[in-house]
Amino acid sequence: MDFQLKTLTSSLAASEKADALVFLVPEGAVADNDALSVIAAAARLAGDFPDKAGKLLSLYHPVGIAAPRVVLASIGNGQPAQVRSAVIAAINAAKGVGTKRLAMVFAKAPEAGALHSAMLAAADASYVYTTTKSKPEPRTLRHVTLGVPDAASLAGAFAEANATISGIELAKEWGNRPANYCTPTMLADAAKELADLPRIKCEVLGPKEVAKLGMGSFAAVAQGSSEPLRFIVLQYSGGAKDEAPVVLVGKGITFDTGGVSLKPAAEMDEMKFDMCGAASVLGVFRTLGELKPAINVVGLIPSCENMNDGKALKPGDVVTSMSGQTIEVLNTDAEGRLILCDALTYAKRFKPAAVIDIATLTGACVVALGGVRSGLFSPDDVLAKALETAGEQSLDRCWRMPLDEEYAEGLKTHFADVANIAGRAGGAVTAAKFLQRFVDGFPWAHLDIAGSAWKSGAAKGSTGRPVGLLVSYLVSRVGMSIAATPAVAPRKAGRKARPGA
Ligand code: BES
Ligand code: MN
Ligand code: ZN
Repeated sequence: MDFQLKTLTSSLAASEKADALVFLVPEGAVADNDALSVIAAAARLAGDFPDKAGKLLSLYHPVGIAAPRVVLASIGNGQPAQVRSAVIAAINAAKGVGTKRLAMVFAKAPEAGALHSAMLAAADASYVYTTTKSKPEPRTLRHVTLGVPDAASLAGAFAEANATISGIELAKEWGNRPANYCTPTMLADAAKELADLPRIKCEVLGPKEVAKLGMGSFAAVAQGSSEPLRFIVLQYSGGAKDEAPVVLVGKGITFDTGGVSLKPAAEMDEMKFDMCGAASVLGVFRTLGELKPAINVVGLIPSCENMNDGKALKPGDVVTSMSGQTIEVLNTDAEGRLILCDALTYAKRFKPAAVIDIATLTGACVVALGGVRSGLFSPDDVLAKALETAGEQSLDRCWRMPLDEEYAEGLKTHFADVANIAGRAGGAVTAAKFLQRFVDGFPWAHLDIAGSAWKSGAAKGSTGRPVGLLVSYLVSRVGMSIAATPAVAPRKAGRKARPGA
């Protein structure tokens, strides 16, 4: 999708050429004398255009306006969440009539966050997946001109939103691909392609290197598949050489059958989405490559299939992780933590400022939080707060969950240092407690995106979450933020990132 930011008053907007024009109107009086404002004010007065966010009024060839179709859209108080609901409604209306070129005009100057949410909502509502269709019908809506009273003041927010959308769309693409179009090798190739962007390097390890590193837990999950595992290491170097990086670790199970602890057949296809954590890391790197913030970021993706065959891991098997801890695999379907624990151990070598793992880890998290908020687990209050704030800012929200030591009780076993599952109760937390055992000397947070990474049912598909949250967190560390206008703050010389912040 191609966005353009343009200075347009509501009177200039009347002569803007487009297939359709969306006029975003906040609550309160519409006072101006131009055609759009007069219609909006009259419709408000008549009760045909209520000021509740998301309310629409569609017009056809209104007098004095160049665009043949006009949609008046209420944005309520103008806050990002209300703008988002208005834009989703308006784009769906515009899509219905085959709009290719859309002008979206703010009646009043939006804040940076409102412009950001409008762009993300427009991209989300018009996204279409095409890769495995024989006659792809590409997205109809291609060009969106955003009209604001003063384009220059929003240039930073515009750039950040654009880059974030590219990242989200990359994450959606890889999330949505079926497992036969998204093997660990293909995922690694996608990561290598990102190294074409400025400041990005990519290294890919295979089974031999992973064995040599002693990643016995990761290798054990992969051993039941004929697809070779891949361990992807991405590095984005935008900050000073000696500045500690943020490490992002993404779960990259390209298909999760459950292994010998086989999953039920119903909806098993959705386990192609079990690499959405990995996809979100790829997405973040694309955004970084486009936005070029002054920060260092490492991305680690352990990727394999969780399959069944004569060589597959069996319940009761004990594996040795890279940390040296032995793990009794009581359930082969709790494989995410088995690949992540070795990546967390590997992360230590970067002397990270913070490590955040992102994983479609537990069905229990879906039960706890549904699809609205991702689960956030962290023993570090500063890091947790920063991620919560980033979630609110980007409207890609999370909810902090507990990590009390008592939750680790059930992971005890007679046969190894730790078991890979505890009882059914508190399953999202016990999974996080397992991961925490492999955190050694850095601030750490875990995002369980099992509920938020994709939608089931009629709207089945990857959401691209939590790319928005992660980008917002990363840029906030260097003082670039969608809340600030303009969003691109100058880089302060010698500024060191505060660990965990
Ligand atoms: N990938 C799944 C988690 C999952 C399940 C995400 C359903 C979204 C929807 C993970 O590998 C898994 O199977 N977890 C098990 C853990 C259990 C065996 C302790 C689960 O949640 O059932
Ligand atoms: Mn599983
Ligand atoms: Zn899984």
